[in-house]
Amino acid sequence: MDAILVTGGAGFVGLNLVEALLRRGDHVVVFGREATLPNPAPALFARLPGRLETIQGDVQDQAALRDLFRARRIGAVFPFAAITAGPAREAADPALVIDVNLKGVLATLAAARDAGTVRRVVLPSSAAVYGESAYAHPVLDEVTTPPAPITLYGVTKYAVERAGLRLAGAWGLDAVAARIGATFGPWERDTGLRDTLSLHLTLAEAAQRGEAVVIPAAPPAYDWVYVRDLVAGLLALLDAPDPPHRVVNLASGTDWAPHYPACLDALARAFPGFRWRHAAPGEAPSIAWNETRPRGVMANARAADFGWRPAFAPAAAVKDYAGWLLAKRDARLG
Ligand SMILES: NC(=O)c1ccc[n+]([C@@H]2O[C@H](COP(=O)([O-])OP(=O)(O)OC[C@H]3O[C@@H](n4cnc5c(N)ncnc54)[C@H](O)[C@@H]3O)[C@@H](O)[C@H]2O)c1
Repeated sequence: MDAILVTGGAGFVGLNLVEALLRRGDHVVVFGREATLPNPAPALFARLPGRLETIQGDVQDQAALRDLFRARRIGAVFPFAAITAGPAREAADPALVIDVNLKGVLATLAAARDAGTVRRVVLPSSAAVYGESAYAHPVLDEVTTPPAPITLYGVTKYAVERAGLRLAGAWGLDAVAARIGATFGPWERDTGLRDTLSLHLTLAEAAQRGEAVVIPAAPPAYDWVYVRDLVAGLLALLDAPDPPHRVVNLASGTDWAPHYPACLDALARAFPGFRWRHAAPGEAPSIAWNETRPRGVMANARAADFGWRPAFAPAAAVKDYAGWLLAKRDARLG
């Protein structure tokens, strides 16, 4: 069986993807900065039907990528290693962000081209490509909404999409770019390379500490996608025999703002010490909210053409996440 390469596979999205691939029996090769996966992933994943190899390396190292492809037959690639740089990091080291996020993906594609065995590449783009447009359009559509990335991270994601699809075409690779919406859920942690973690992680940590939180009186519109849904979408892009589109939003297409009360109630049911309330007039929220301006929601008609639609409504997603956190705490995972 050909292996599936996931670069950055020890990161948040990567771990969820690797877990889903192993669950269905795939041979998965993780390539990334970490020597091992974080606990409890190694023990948990060892019980799944698929086969896992973990290789430590840097996507800027073309020789290491070449060796990797020479040593095993790779049939599909998720070049997901990235630095999700915030303002301080992009200002301090812009070249590194470009080297990893863009050149690292292109180096992985070049190694895939040379191997000649790769049937599908799923490129990691992001909602960040919409940038300023996200505040000007109620629905963010892959074709009609102009990309206007703000951050250097968003610029590299748009470049990955355009350069990745362009070179994949020139190099005989079959690629699809996933514009991944803001995600949350199991395995999210601080890898030291993602400067803004999800709001849901912040809330879940407060819930686990049994704190009381004050949320904004009127949170702005925001589209989250639960990572288990996201991964199902990524697998749909991997498996599509004849992709109907080459750039695809993977997002819930739902404004979560009206759903925060039900989500927070779900957290409170799982962690009984946790309490929440809306801010009173003039009162500041007790936690940093991830956004102050309302954003459009991402269209998901193109993803539906791949047979994918999100399975989790907002509160159901948070309930599932809370169940995972409890199982992890009690070492009941798997
Ligand atoms: N988390 C989100 O909400 C989100 C949204 C849109 C797109 N994405 C994309 O999903 C992918 C994974 O992001 P994530 O949220 O899991 O981030 P993460 O920080 O949790 O994981 C990134 C992984 O990449 C690895 N990595 C970084 N630089 C590397 C290098 N030079 N060589 C090898 N490995 C390296 C890290 O060690 C880490 O394991 C990224 O391409 C990101 O742009 C994520």
